[in-house]
Formats: sequence, structure tokens, C-alpha cells
Amino acid sequence: MAGATGLCAGGFAIRSLAAETPAQPPDEDGYKLWLRYAPMGNASKNYRQAVRQIRVDGSSATHRIIRDELRSATTAMLGGAVPANETGLPDGTLLVGTPDHSALIRDLSWTADLLAVGNEGFLIRSVRIVKHPVTVIAANTDIGALYGAFHFLRLMQTGQRIEQLDIKERPSLQLRLMNHWDNPNGSIERGYAGRSMWQWNDLPDKLSPRYSDYARTCASVGINGAVINNVNADPSILAAGNLRKVAALAEVWRPYGVRMYLCANFAAPVRIGGLTTADPLNQGVADWWKAKADEIYRLIPDFGGFLVKANSEGQPGPKTYGRTHADGANVLADALAPHRGNVMWRAFVYDDDIDPDRAKRAYIEFTRLDGQFRPNVVIQVKNGAIDFQPREPFHPLFGAMKQTPVIAEIQATQEYLGQAKHLVYLGTLWKEFLDSDTHANGGGSTVAKVLTGEGQPSRITGLVSVTNPGLDANWCGHHFSQSNWYAFGRLAWNPNLSAEHVADEWTRMTFTNDDKTVAVIRKMMMTSRETFVKYTMPLGLHHLIGGDHYAPQPWNDRAARADWTAVYYHKAAADGIGFDRTRRGDHAVEQYYPPVCDRFDDIKTCPEQYLLWFHRCAWNYPMKSGKTLWDELCGKYQEGAAQAAGLQQTWQALAGRIDSSRHKEVADRLAIQVADAAKWRDQILEYFGRFSKRPIPRSI
Ligand code: GCU
Repeated sequence: MAGATGLCAGGFAIRSLAAETPAQPPDEDGYKLWLRYAPMGNASKNYRQAVRQIRVDGSSATHRIIRDELRSATTAMLGGAVPANETGLPDGTLLVGTPDHSALIRDLSWTADLLAVGNEGFLIRSVRIVKHPVTVIAANTDIGALYGAFHFLRLMQTGQRIEQLDIKERPSLQLRLMNHWDNPNGSIERGYAGRSMWQWNDLPDKLSPRYSDYARTCASVGINGAVINNVNADPSILAAGNLRKVAALAEVWRPYGVRMYLCANFAAPVRIGGLTTADPLNQGVADWWKAKADEIYRLIPDFGGFLVKANSEGQPGPKTYGRTHADGANVLADALAPHRGNVMWRAFVYDDDIDPDRAKRAYIEFTRLDGQFRPNVVIQVKNGAIDFQPREPFHPLFGAMKQTPVIAEIQATQEYLGQAKHLVYLGTLWKEFLDSDTHANGGGSTVAKVLTGEGQPSRITGLVSVTNPGLDANWCGHHFSQSNWYAFGRLAWNPNLSAEHVADEWTRMTFTNDDKTVAVIRKMMMTSRETFVKYTMPLGLHHLIGGDHYAPQPWNDRAARADWTAVYYHKAAADGIGFDRTRRGDHAVEQYYPPVCDRFDDIKTCPEQYLLWFHRCAWNYPMKSGKTLWDELCGKYQEGAAQAAGLQQTWQALAGRIDSSRHKEVADRLAIQVADAAKWRDQILEYFGRFSKRPIPRSI
């Protein structure tokens, strides 16, 4: 169908681009991620004038990294050597530095503007210095300059103009951290892209080149730290021998501005310290944590701090000793405070003695402790109150803790979203979350504003991501899963970026700058999450899975805990389906501020995308479309499965536009996705049909 326009089953028009296809791009394996620096061809003539020489003033390891990155990237993109010189300032120089290391930058007297961009921000400006047109990347720190260099390269990679730049950037959030759920034995909890990247048997002496490639990739999007081990933490990570290995990794990352953090097992004083208790109010335990912190900082002077999962899913914690989460967090915080380290204490707790509804438990536990945490404790809260479902309303804890900093945890590894087999771009999910209005301080108190501390004073801010790279050649398993690593970094830097903008950038850097191809891929990405929701858990349904968190299992009624089953959540029966969390039900809506609670509570105003999350509805409940709930539900599943098939067809039409190796690898996964989507549709509708006793309409 070369050159033809057709409506694919997924509903959006695609045009086969085959007839216009330029020469087939050379094969790639995806290892270079979005840092491919593909040759620009003819377009390079627009850039050559402005990039004739690189000059990085300074000789730190970070300066060397900036110089190498700029030189090799511009040389590759422009197709001719761009020299790096430390003297002279010919026309077209790209000058990089800080006032501390560069007299030229000092002489520009940009003091006030530099002050405004803080420690990690930067300025990029096209100026004349002694009559020479040059581009200056200026920052207060080497890391700010590194971020500026990557920003400049991104402009080139995405085909932006660079002759008249006047850019001022600073990150909106302080902690922008990768959370790896990697185990010492090399496995990764909920990891779908091969084994762990950390080679514990080889460390500290042998350093894999992946370590610096990883840190460079993080720095390219402003990610400034990583927790390297599983929240279900093996206590031995804190043993002396392992800390030396951790320190070797931290040293590789330091010049990239990626700080090291560790998950601490709360029972470590017992498990590796030989104490008889881990009671946080016991002096011996407090001393043990202090000594451990001192030992860590001797090895890793810029260590960021501990992440802790306590009294959750079998992990030890302060409640084991009759103490509160605040007591537990504070003992670690006191140990880290002299070194300026932080404790990230997770709110992912759901003890069933707190409330029968899992969705309500964390809010109850933590709001009553507000005000009791040390200043260097932050509460790390998942975006939704259950667990990284394809769609959840925002967690009511956002905006609820008035005296305690709260940071958000999102999940790039697609545990409940098709893992590394389904194409699901999460930028849209995360934006939906970040843009949700909590009304904590009146209208407009979006989650993003709560996180950045705009609405309430918050000393520590952050967004972290349970992340997805492993040892796979393409890092993330699915080529498109790379976009979720990328989008996390970009949104943590600036939560106001649109999901579409981020998808556009990523596509241009990762695949091609050809506008037509970019438009097609961008649309695939932008629709992909909603498509996934439709064929798995539409209309507020959640947790219709079993232990693998992948395949449909709505019949799942047996697990170690009731709240790990599916039936606990959907409650399907002859009279209807859904979890009544209204004021007539279990009152969960009351954890939200007005008018959000009222909107969710009233079935007429509750957004239909959350309908069965908050309401229990009869099968013939009339939906806004005029259909009954049952017919609407059937329609969603049918539409979702058809849209998955549409993604596949759309991708097929891009053959020749993308190198054949990556094209085939994505196509192979799309085939799995299409089959899975049909399976979800059929199995879920067959199962719920047993309760609704209604026929499945052919709605599309
Ligand atoms: C989910 C996930 C677990 C993980 C947990 C957590 O329940 O399935 O593997 O340990 O989240 O976030 O702690």
C-alpha cells in the first residue's frame, strides 16, 4: 500500500511511507540509546558555522567528559572533525565552563543569572566575545556545565536552531533518582531486560564499561543519583567488603554527577551487626547505624543516603519492635545527618490491621506521624495508592503531609504494563499523575506543585523511578522501553514538559529526525498507554492479574494475602462490579481534599476512567455514552485489542525508515502484544460475562 492512506484498526490514519523511504539506515542494536549522534547529512550545514571548535575551560574529570562528549558528538553529527582546543576563541567556538575555571566566562558578568540557575542549572547563550560569535555554556558547577552540554547536543540531535540561543535551565526537583531493584545474586526483582548490570564478583577491581556508559546516560537527562539495590534489601550490601565494591562504582559515577544511594535492611544491626535487636530506640542500635554511616562516608564522601522499605511485604521494620515508622526513619536520619545524607522512607505499607481497604492504609499510617520525622527524612510515595497499576488516581498522601517532605516514586520497569514485551510509553501516565490537582492548597495544587514545593514549604524535593535497564544489549529489553528511562529523567528535571514533547525528542534522538516518521512514532507512543489500559483494566479496574503481574487472571482468588488476589479488587457478582470507596462505602474518597473527594464520591462527576475504582455499579448502569456499563466494558476491551493490532500495522508501515534490526525486534514484540491483547479481551470478557449474564456486543 505504498503511498496510500488507510485507517488502521487502531483508529488512526497511517500513510505508508515506503515509497518515500531514503536508503535503509544501518543496523543498530540499541546500546547507544538516545545518544547515537547520527550523522545529519545535508542538515549539518546549518550547524557548522556555530560549532567549529570546542573549548572547555577546566581540567577536572567532568571537564574531560564534557570535552570528549562534545567533540565526538559534534564530529559524528556534522561529518567532519570538530577540534577541541583549550586556547583561542575563533568564530564558532562552543565555550563551556564555570566562572571558577574560566576567566572568559567570569568576564561575561552573568553573576545574577548564574545565581538563579543554582548548582545544577546552566545558561546557553549565543554571544559575541571580542567580536567573535560564539556559543557559551555557563554554569556554577562542572555538573551544571555537563547538563548544559547535553542540552546543547539535544538541540542539535532534534534539529533545533542553535544560532541565537538564550537558554536558562535549572531542575525543578532536587532528587532525581533511579531505583534499581537489583539483588546481589544478579537477578532483578521485576526486571525484564536481563541480569543486573552490577558485577559483584568483579568489583571493586574490574570495572565494566557499562558503569560509565550508564552514568553518562543518566547525566544526559539530568538524573543525579541511583539506589542500586532492591528495596527488599539483602542486609549484606552494608557489609564492609561490599561497601568497597559500592564505593568503586560510586567513583566511576562521580564525575557524571550520579550519587550513590543504598537500600538498607532495617534488621541489618541484627543480621550483619551481631546485635540482638534492631529496635530503633535502643542506644546500641543507634550507635550501630552511626558507625555504619561513618564507615560509608569514609569510602563514599558524597553518599546520598538510605532508601528503606520497612514493615511491608514481610520486610523488617520498627513496628516489629512496637515502634512507629517515624522512630525507624529517625534513627537512620540521625546517623546520616552529620554527613548531610537523607533517608527516603517508603510509604508502600499496607498492614491489614490498619483498614480493610489496602488503598487506605498508607495514608492512615503516615498522616498521623506528620511532624514527627527528622528534617532529613522524606516519605517516598508511589504515584497511586495500590501499586503501579495501568491507571490509578493519584495517591491521597500527595499534599496531605504538611510538615514532612514527600517525594514521588514512579515505575519505568513495566511491571503491570506489559513488562518489556508491550510497547507502552509512560510519559502520558506520569503526566496524568503530575498534572492531577490535589487541591491541597486550593485549586491548582497539582501533584507537580506539591512535589516541587510550590504549594507548601518542603525542604527536600524529588521524583524517583523504579527503573528498567539490565544487561540486555539495548539496556531495557524493548527498544521503546528506553523511552521510559528517558521520560523519567526529562520529567524529573521539568515536570511541566508535555509527554508529547518528550516523546518527540526521544524519537528524534533514538530513531530518526525525519518529520513524517517522527509524527507516526510519536502518535504510537502517545496512544500506547491508553490502548494498554483499554485491553487490560479499563474504567478503574485494577489488579486483574496473578503473581506474574502480566497475564489476565481476574479469577485469581487465592494468594498469601487477600489483597494480592484479583477478586478482592473487582468484586464482580451478579449485581455488578467495582469497589465502593465512596462515603456510602468504605470512605476512601475522604482521604482526598474537597472538591476532589466530592467529585470522586458522586457517581455523576467521578471521571469514568476511575469509575470502578470508587464505585460499585450494576451491569446495566448507564454510561455517558448511553451504553450500559457491560456494553461499554466490552467496547473498551475490543477497542484496546484492535488498537494493539493498529500499533503493529503502523509499525509495519515504517519498514525501511528504521534500521531493519531494531525494526524487526520491535515488530517481534508487537506480535506478542497483539496476541496478548486479544487474550486479555477474550478471557476477561468471558470471565465477567459469567456474572453479567449478558451477551458480548460487537461494538467495533
Ligand atoms: C510490588 C512488586 C514487588 C515490590 C513491591 C515494592 O508489590 O510486585 O516486587 O517489592 O512492589 O514496591 O516494594
